[in-house]
Amino acid sequence: MIDDNRPVWEVPAAVGPSDELPDACEDLVIGAGVVGLTTALLLARAGRRVCVVEARYVGAGSTGHSSAKVSLLQGTRLSSLLKDHDRETVRTYVEANRVGFDWLTEFADEHGVRIDRRPAATFAASPTQVSSARSEYVAAKALGLPVEWTEDDLDVPFPTHGAVVLPGQAQVDPGSLLQALAAEYRENGGTLVEGARVEHVSKVGHPRAKLTDGREITAESIVVATGAPILDRSLAFSDLEPQRSYVVAYEMGNPPRLMALSAGSPSVSIRDAFTDDGRSVLLVGGFGHGVGRTASEREHVEAIRTWTTEHFSGVQETAVWSAQDYTTGNGLPRYGRMPRGGGRMWFATGFAKWGFTNGTAAAIAIAQDILGSPVAWMKDVADHSSPLVSVRGRAHINAGVARETVTGVARAVTAERRQLEPGQGAVHREGARIVAESRTESGVCRVKGLCTHLGGVLRWNDVEQSWDCPLHGSRFSAEGEVLNGPATRPLARLADESDD
Ligand SMILES: Cc1cc2nc3c(=O)[nH]c(=O)nc-3n(C[C@H](O)[C@H](O)[C@H](O)COP(=O)(O)OP(=O)(O)OC[C@H]3O[C@@H](n4cnc5c(N)ncnc54)[C@H](O)[C@@H]3O)c2cc1C
Ligand code: FES
Repeated sequence: MIDDNRPVWEVPAAVGPSDELPDACEDLVIGAGVVGLTTALLLARAGRRVCVVEARYVGAGSTGHSSAKVSLLQGTRLSSLLKDHDRETVRTYVEANRVGFDWLTEFADEHGVRIDRRPAATFAASPTQVSSARSEYVAAKALGLPVEWTEDDLDVPFPTHGAVVLPGQAQVDPGSLLQALAAEYRENGGTLVEGARVEHVSKVGHPRAKLTDGREITAESIVVATGAPILDRSLAFSDLEPQRSYVVAYEMGNPPRLMALSAGSPSVSIRDAFTDDGRSVLLVGGFGHGVGRTASEREHVEAIRTWTTEHFSGVQETAVWSAQDYTTGNGLPRYGRMPRGGGRMWFATGFAKWGFTNGTAAAIAIAQDILGSPVAWMKDVADHSSPLVSVRGRAHINAGVARETVTGVARAVTAERRQLEPGQGAVHREGARIVAESRTESGVCRVKGLCTHLGGVLRWNDVEQSWDCPLHGSRFSAEGEVLNGPATRPLARLADESDD
């Protein structure tokens, strides 16, 4: 069980007490991750009246639970993108990431945010991964990155079979970054409201957001920075593949001082980090899977533990956490004006686990667009959709959703209620309704077993003790509270078998 999903760094508790929700603002930003807070800061710096509303707390989403490598070498991403896009598009992708990289690293340096320069490496973990790693080297070189190819073992205690290395990349403490973004945003007059979940946005007249507790706020523009976009009007959620992955932290005197990622599956990612009192830790991550699409999440965490103890001796586990990110059908991020948003709504998603550079680039692009001086790359990269690739990518995503819909319903309607051990959960049918029942430390809890987004049959996540939706990645606590969108409404609690 992941106790409270708290990473080794502090999520920024010290941004101060939550502000009162105003009735109106110029720019409303929904979500306080790297995208939301960077966008909000840029708009506040330009003198706009900005309000950020965050469903939980600053850093509750992927940003606070990331590996937070800030890198232009991104696993095998460049060679993958070149398979589906022309070189100019991928070059623009790299340039947009460079803008994000430069902005973030400069901001971190100027604001005392913990950031360490490290080489980034994509390594072949086995002979079968050599061609992928080598292709990435060729792609990165062709795109103008000063990469090197090495056959020598990297400075790591596990065998590698060749690696592409890009010097001068960075790893950040995301808690410290979010804290600095929030602090400067507030100094510029920004309002930050935590514990405020937006349920719905209406675009009649001035756009208006309604919170789940009934409060409302109007704005001239709305930026949806919620990971998976919570508004269905763009249908963006249907072009996203949500991937959940894990990070395990180990106390270690002298961990490798490089950021490395394997060139194949399962993806293994390492970096070092520092605790708040300055002790070195090793972070091992990866081993991801589609949200709600694995037999046991626990097995993925166990796979990281097994891999680590096999290769690093005498390490002591100190924390384990998890988060999710989204990949689009055409592999490129999506940000900009929201389709059918009346020209007043923006969104950003699809960073494929590279949101520190991509998300910062998205924030800059969105803020510039709102301020009336749009950047070229937003159209070239984030709106780009070669019809062929989109059709293929979307078909792949739709096939996965269709398969999960059918198997989920089949599973639920045939399942009998069963006795649950502590830590277990299962869905079953009771008459016409699907019930999700779990037994956790807080006792037995029964909620409706269909996702409040579009009715996907939920699955029990045995490591985080949550209900996860295999269709578009929404997640709920055992008690039904929303943890991840696109859902915005909780699951209804069911008191007993006769209750509805
Ligand atoms: C395990 C893991 C490792 C990663 N490692 C890296 C890495 O090394 N380098 C890298 O560049 N990227 C990495 N990523 C990806 C990166 O962390 C994300 O792309 C990035 O943090 C996304 O930022 P965001 O602001 O879009 O979303 P988030 O940080 O998820 O922020 C969205 C916020 O919106 C809030 N919200 C949601 N719904 C609502 C609502 N209805 N109302 C109000 N608020 C709402 C959420 O609570 C959340 O705080 C990793 C991701 C994962 C999962
Ligand atoms: S997330 Fe869309 S149906 Fe559950």
